[in-house]
Amino acid sequence: MKIVIMGAPGSGKGTQAEIISKDLEIPTISTGSILRYEVESGSKLGQKIKDTISQGILIPDELITELLLKRVDSPDCKNGYILDGFPRTINQAKSLDENIDIDKVLVLEVEDQVILNRLSGRRSCTNCNIVYHVQSKKPQVEGVCDICGEPLIIRDDDKEEIIKKRLEIYRESTKPVIDYYKQKGKVVTVDCVDGIEENTKLIRKALLK
Ligand code: AP5
Ligand code: MG
Repeated sequence: MKIVIMGAPGSGKGTQAEIISKDLEIPTISTGSILRYEVESGSKLGQKIKDTISQGILIPDELITELLLKRVDSPDCKNGYILDGFPRTINQAKSLDENIDIDKVLVLEVEDQVILNRLSGRRSCTNCNIVYHVQSKKPQVEGVCDICGEPLIIRDDDKEEIIKKRLEIYRESTKPVIDYYKQKGKVVTVDCVDGIEENTKLIRKALLK
């Protein structure tokens, strides 16, 4: 099964994709994680990407599409995957369509106020990509990843003014992608205002539709 998971920054895409990916035994491909990995590598390209991400704006379509298509070509993707963070523009959606037939587009709906709270408390592990929250998903030891023991970080783009910019870009560039997939009859929308576990139950139901 090939699933796209969409929703505003902080709607819980990464959190839910991690759970659903275990259920379905398929990998999650997060373009945000691919980009942050490139930043961590310290390459020249990584430095350019860091400047763009920390302003809350989008990486050029051509570059991100190339990275994504290369990733889905890997052997671990042969039984399907969950795309988290791609496509984010109509151009990206059209390029994806030219190469891959997506089965379902899962849209997580959350209001802006909830988003600000979720993102301001987020802590991330750059080593294994696990995402925590200071209230709703605490690590066993504060500031340390449960899985690999690395220190948890606050993402550069989780500052309030950058979150607002990301939300603006989401409305302008990414919401039209949802309409694009609605016309193709692929969208299932889930109201994700509850806790993580409750939302997972709703998503599991929605995927059976
Ligand atoms: P990306 O990493 O994709 O960021 P995003 O879309 O802004 O989404 P987030 O990762 O911030 O939120 P999420 O929905 O995954 O929420 P999470 O599960 O972490 O992209 C970052 C940047 O990379 C972009 O701005 C852009 O520059 C670039 N980029 C990426 N893809 C691109 C593309 N295709 N084209 C161009 N540029 C691209 O949850 C958030 C927090 O809330 C966590 O702490 C979590 O524990 C907590 N939480 C989750 N659910 C709940 C709940 N139900 N109750 C309470 N807490 C919860
Ligand atoms: Mg994420």
